[in-house]
Amino acid sequence: MLSRSPSPVSDPDAPFNVSDALAPPRVNKAASTTKITFDGLLNDPLLLKEDLKNGCGGQLWPAGMVLTKYMLSQRASELAGKSIVELGAGGGLVGLGVARECEFAAPLHITDQLPMFELMKENVALNDLESKVQASILDWGEPIPTHIPAHPDIILAADCVYFEPAFPLLITTLKDLIGPNTTCYFCYKRRRRADLRFIKMAKKAFDFQEVRDDPNAPAYNRENIFLYTLRRKAPKCANKQLAME
Ligand SMILES: C[S@@+](CC[C@H](N)C(=O)[O-])C[C@H]1O[C@@H](n2cnc3c(N)ncnc32)[C@H](O)[C@@H]1O
Repeated sequence: MLSRSPSPVSDPDAPFNVSDALAPPRVNKAASTTKITFDGLLNDPLLLKEDLKNGCGGQLWPAGMVLTKYMLSQRASELAGKSIVELGAGGGLVGLGVARECEFAAPLHITDQLPMFELMKENVALNDLESKVQASILDWGEPIPTHIPAHPDIILAADCVYFEPAFPLLITTLKDLIGPNTTCYFCYKRRRRADLRFIKMAKKAFDFQEVRDDPNAPAYNRENIFLYTLRRKAPKCANKQLAME
């Protein structure tokens, strides 16, 4: 599994919850379950089991908190009837937070590598969300499993930029999944200069825009957390046509 520990969240309902520890903890903390309301955006708190025994995705990450709060506060009303896939879901923080509150075309697919599969399933069950959320294995760079929508309406990806060898694999998966009507909400925390290489690759591959309607952005931008949308680029001839009109 490609995993190098970035920087986890210690208290999920504290503002932005950003720890700057870059080194992975020597001793993994014991498994525990956290209640999360995303600053009161959920009336019924989400329960999230965190367990690091199978990898860094087994705990909460700052960009995941930011993305969930954005989806709940700014995008919830637009999700009805939409198909949703989360990449690099870890324990399922973002997808489960969205599923707890929003209507969409079920199931919402939370996906990660094999070592996270059991934890994702446990967290789905812990929140009684089996009818709305399905956990699946989706390894970046590999073919998309056939039960996952080929081009979902919405892709969620949080804190997936931290390990350089995985950058081209993630770009491949995003290219596979992003169709003409797909919007990917992509939230990342910049920790190293190398992370900008991913952003450069993404700008080349996609229509890449900073999200501008999040009132919380100035606060999390100060913590080097950024939220973007990625869409399929318009074909060159369409751009020419638009320029001529
Ligand atoms: C820092 S964690 C973020 C977890 C979650 N999105 C959050 O915000 O709390 C990054 C996740 O990406 C997953 N990941 C890393 N490389 C991957 C790959 N090649 N294919 C699929 N998932 C991968 C890891 O297993 C991990 O769960």
